[in-house]
Amino acid sequence: MLEMHYYGDPVLRKKAVPVEKFDEELQGFVDELIETMEYEDGVGLAATQVGICRRIAVINATGGQEQTYVLINPEIVYSSQEKEDYDEGCLSIPGITLSVNRPSVVSVKAQDAKGQQYLIENAQGLLARALQHEIDHLNGIMFVDHVSPLQRSLINGKLKKISRAQREKSQDL
Ligand code: NI
Repeated sequence: MLEMHYYGDPVLRKKAVPVEKFDEELQGFVDELIETMEYEDGVGLAATQVGICRRIAVINATGGQEQTYVLINPEIVYSSQEKEDYDEGCLSIPGITLSVNRPSVVSVKAQDAKGQQYLIENAQGLLARALQHEIDHLNGIMFVDHVSPLQRSLINGKLKKISRAQREKSQDL
């Protein structure tokens, strides 16, 4: 299992670099990322959340194993004008769920673990949400960045607590 990194860890604010080599090492990492997402019971997981700054994320918005998307170098190629509110949480910010406003429909272009290009067209609902959330992670953006100053002030105490726990943990190593 890969080690999770939590809010307050500077690695979560880094912009991840594109993947160029599609080899066995990449496949091995992707398998571990999927395993970690399933273990943590998440809908998605980005490589930055396990401390690896490469443009890799995995998503399973349905719970069925055949529905796991492997997203290498993903890019949003279409976002609807229409937006919606949707409750989001993040494995790197445990215990916080907030309503976030984002485009309702997105299309995403990505490569699979073998380097094959594919398109997820007009994703909606939880999948659209997860795609935007995970691609944000690869750009150093976290979902709490999108909420209003008022919402933010309400969770500041909790965020500080997570940051402190993260710092203490890194000092142990
Ligand atoms: Ni997240």
